[in-house]
Amino acid sequence: MLRIRKEALKPGMRLAKPIFTEEDQLLLHKGELLKGPFIQRMKNYDVKEVYIDWHHQYPMEIMEGIIQDTQNQIQDQFKTSFSRLIDNKNSEFEKIENLVEEILSEILENKKLLIDLTEVRSTDNYTFAHSVNVCILAMILGKSIGYGKKNLKKIGLGALLHDIGKVGVDEEILKKSKGLTDGEYGEIKRHTTKGYELVKSLDLLCEESRRIVRDHHEWVNGKGYPKGLKGGEIHPFARIVGICDQFDALSTDRVYRKAWSFSDVVEYLIVYQGEIFDENFVQAFLRSFEVYLEGRLIELSSGRNAVVRKFNRSFPTRPMIQVIQREAKGIIEQELLDLTKIHNEKIVKVYH
Ligand SMILES: [Fe+2]
Repeated sequence: MLRIRKEALKPGMRLAKPIFTEEDQLLLHKGELLKGPFIQRMKNYDVKEVYIDWHHQYPMEIMEGIIQDTQNQIQDQFKTSFSRLIDNKNSEFEKIENLVEEILSEILENKKLLIDLTEVRSTDNYTFAHSVNVCILAMILGKSIGYGKKNLKKIGLGALLHDIGKVGVDEEILKKSKGLTDGEYGEIKRHTTKGYELVKSLDLLCEESRRIVRDHHEWVNGKGYPKGLKGGEIHPFARIVGICDQFDALSTDRVYRKAWSFSDVVEYLIVYQGEIFDENFVQAFLRSFEVYLEGRLIELSSGRNAVVRKFNRSFPTRPMIQVIQREAKGIIEQELLDLTKIHNEKIVKVYH
C-alpha cells in the first residue's frame, strides 16, 4: 500500500483504502480502479491523502510522490507564531498549543502522513522545519514509551520550542561548519539557557516542557550541556527530545555537511545509547520504526530501490525487503532479500 497526494493520482491506480469526505460520506470504495472522472470528482472534495494498492504498476515518480502540503502548511504557521511568541508571549501560545494538538491527534489516530525521516530541506528554514519534525518524532516516541495524551502534549510543546533560544544566536555562527572558536561554540551552547529564559515567561507552559528547552543537549553520561546533568537527573521528556533532535538533525542536509544515511543515523543512536542517549528510549524509538517502515519505498547504498516487507526487531536497519526495478512498462518486483544476510548493502533513504 502506498500513500500519495491526490494531485499525483493517475487513471489505472487501484484504491487500497476507501475514501471518505470531510462529512464521512463514502466517496469511493476500497479496490476501486481509478478513472479520469473519479479523479476529477476527488479534486472537488477536501481529500488530502489517498492510499493506493502497491501491486499495480506505476511509474517511480508517482511512488515518490509525497504529502508535502500538510507539513509545509504547519511550518508556515509555526514560523509566524515563533517570532510573534517572543513579543506577545501568552496570546500567541494558544496557536502553538493548537498546532501541537493537531499533530497529536494525527499521531493518536495512527496516521503516518506527517513524518518524514530523511527529507531534504533547505537550510534557510532549517530551525523551523527541524522543530516541527522533532515535535512529531518526540510525540511518536512518547507514545511508544507509553505516555498518555496529557504528557504527549507537554512533550510536543517543549519539542516544538526546544531550539527557540537560537533566535538570539548570530545566524552566521549557526551556519558555520568547522573552525568554530571556543567563544562561538559557547554562544551556540547558550541557546539552551537563553531559550529557557524565554519560555520561563510563558505562564501557560509547564515546567516539564520548559526543561526540554533547557536540557535537550544533556547527555546521560553527564558530559552534555548546559549543566552536565546525568541519567535520571535529566527529565525524561528532555531525554526523549534529545534523541529526536539528533535523529532529525543528522538526517538532514546542512550547509556544512550532507545528510547521513538512514542506517548510519540509526547506528549512531545505537552506538551512543547509554552514553549520550537513554538506552531504553533509544530501544523504544527503534521499535516505533516498525509501524513506520513496513511498506515503505527505500533506496539502497547500491542505488537500487526496494520496498520494506518485514521489519526486523533485532536489527531495525536490516529488514526483509523486496527489490524493485523500474522499467518502461512499470515497476517490476524482483527478489526478496533479508538485509541481515547482505552486508554490503544498507538503507540510505526512506521515501514516503
Ligand atoms: Fe538545540
